[in-house]
Amino acid sequence: MLKNPAQKYRQFAPINLSERTWPSKTITHPPIWLSTDLRDGNQALMEPMNIDKKVRLFKLLINIGFKEIEVAFPSASQTEFDFVRHLIEEKLIPEDVTIQVLTPAREHLIRRTFEALHGVKRAIVHLYNATSSVFRRTVFGLDCPQTINLAVTATQLIKELATEQPNTHWQFQYSPETFTATELNFAKEICDAVLEVWQPTPQNKAIINLPATVEVATPNVFADQVEWMHNNLKFRDSLTLCVHPHNDRGCAIAAAELAQMAGAERVEGCLFGNGERTGNVDLVTLALNLYTQGIHPGLDFSNINEVARTIENCTQLPIHPRHPYVGDLVFTAFSGSHQDAIKKGFAVQQPNTFWEIPYLPLDPKDVGRSYESVVRVNSQSGKGGIAFLLEQDYNLVLPRRLQIEFSQIVQTVMDATGKEMSSSDLWQLFEKEYLQQQEPFQYVSHQIYQSEENQGLWATLQKNGETIAIHGEGNGPIDAFVNALDLGVRIYNYSEHSRNRGSNADAVAYVEIVGDSISSSLHGIGIHSNIVTASFIAILSAVNRAVKTEVSLTKHL
Ligand code: KIV
Ligand code: ZN
Repeated sequence: MLKNPAQKYRQFAPINLSERTWPSKTITHPPIWLSTDLRDGNQALMEPMNIDKKVRLFKLLINIGFKEIEVAFPSASQTEFDFVRHLIEEKLIPEDVTIQVLTPAREHLIRRTFEALHGVKRAIVHLYNATSSVFRRTVFGLDCPQTINLAVTATQLIKELATEQPNTHWQFQYSPETFTATELNFAKEICDAVLEVWQPTPQNKAIINLPATVEVATPNVFADQVEWMHNNLKFRDSLTLCVHPHNDRGCAIAAAELAQMAGAERVEGCLFGNGERTGNVDLVTLALNLYTQGIHPGLDFSNINEVARTIENCTQLPIHPRHPYVGDLVFTAFSGSHQDAIKKGFAVQQPNTFWEIPYLPLDPKDVGRSYESVVRVNSQSGKGGIAFLLEQDYNLVLPRRLQIEFSQIVQTVMDATGKEMSSSDLWQLFEKEYLQQQEPFQYVSHQIYQSEENQGLWATLQKNGETIAIHGEGNGPIDAFVNALDLGVRIYNYSEHSRNRGSNADAVAYVEIVGDSISSSLHGIGIHSNIVTASFIAILSAVNRAVKTEVSLTKHL
């Protein structure tokens, strides 16, 4: 990189718009959406789509709810031409959907475009030519009047050819390509000139599309450019003002949103931001940004994964795992503090109230994603996430100190493997650590009786494979069982809950034991249909774990 980039790059000159109004506007309704996935998106692919894929994508766009779809650049290739013919001849265009096609300002290409559209009920013919000074000078060698003449002559021909096909309802769209780098006065002059030819009316509006062909400045500058055009274009009540942001500076979403505040009524873009270079503006993000403000975008992403997989298949491009609203990881929290906050949010969130889950701007369910992936456990995670998954998927509500104990066990495994643990991995580890502890003691049966002052208990256990009987008394069955074991341990904490609903619900008992021969407290867990049996199993689970780690306990055995 250069020490002084100013030698090579210039700052974009601000727009002199002292009376700008867009900063105090808010977006209150969705724009008219135009998907250009099949044109701009397709043009940008290493391997452009074949007809089958195009049809598949066209149907997807219709299912999502697009009413205006730019389907092709028919004069660019035979496949593009054939696809338009296919849509028309196979009657694949629904009554309420208008297709749009792109054409450059060249006579034979315009004629070919109209050939492709023969017999269509409704169409938008989208004419473009580049208008910025670098294009006028370097690419075309045309001055301003010649550039205007090119656009005007092309519009005249489009008007003529449209008149020759009176059974089609024609709409005209003009794009001063490279608008963002075009002098505003000149952009207005050329748009006014083509509109003068077309003569739009409030009943049959023309579309003026302002492309950020290349994003050249901060999005507020784009908003100023759009507001200036909005205020200065002729025929304003007879045209729909549209924007077409690209994402070179990574600001396409912001640019499209500010542009709507500045007067744009229509937005062109692609699903998940496919398109030339850094892509077109991502229509999914724009739509779901509206949705999370309580405004229905008029597009349906209830099954966003299906949309994503179709787009990936058609474009052969992967969607980034952190792509807003759709990436594999965007409804997932790895860090402990995030998991903890999400878990607490879910615990208090009531149905049919405003969504207030920390760190999650959108309910994953609304786009067909499940909570399953919300909390994932890796080495950054804390006890909150682990407890959340065990509660959500296995109906275990771990007491707080057990959460801490088990999270340390999980951490040790993850430090060794370096891998994330799924909910079922956690369950397997949990089972192994607490529920499958059968050595040296395994519960077989018990009988309780009431003595004069105490409860008494006879229990049969397996000890290292041998059957033994133990006896004890205490102020309750748990106390009696601990006394019967006679291992010098005490119950420090005990809790229980039912694991599932219904009459044959399992009970889960959690015990935390301490003892002179145990350096720090240890937990044990028992699951059984009988709560007393579950408690005894929990005590044995804790004792068995203690025997493994606490050598000094063995002297009691
Ligand atoms: O990005 C662009 O300028 C275009 C035009 C053809 C509208 O795609
Ligand atoms: Zn484009």
